[in-house]
Amino acid sequence: MYVCVCKAVTDTQIKQAINDGVCTRRQIFQCFGVGRDCGKCNKHVKELLDTHLQQQPIMQAASNQPILNAC
Ligand code: FES
Repeated sequence: MYVCVCKAVTDTQIKQAINDGVCTRRQIFQCFGVGRDCGKCNKHVKELLDTHLQQQPIMQAASNQPILNAC
């Protein structure tokens, strides 16, 4: 499903980025450019990030370092 229609970014792409180490909204915005046009996707991006990070507590604890090649 498209999360950001303006940039044609799907929830699958965002979830994959989170799995690859993206852990902040800023990183998601930098990776995909979402939220910069109409901004309607910002709330959904935040919800996706919050939900998906809650499902990965062990991975978050294991990697304190940002993963720079996640995008
Ligand atoms: S839907 Fe993401 S910026 Fe418009």
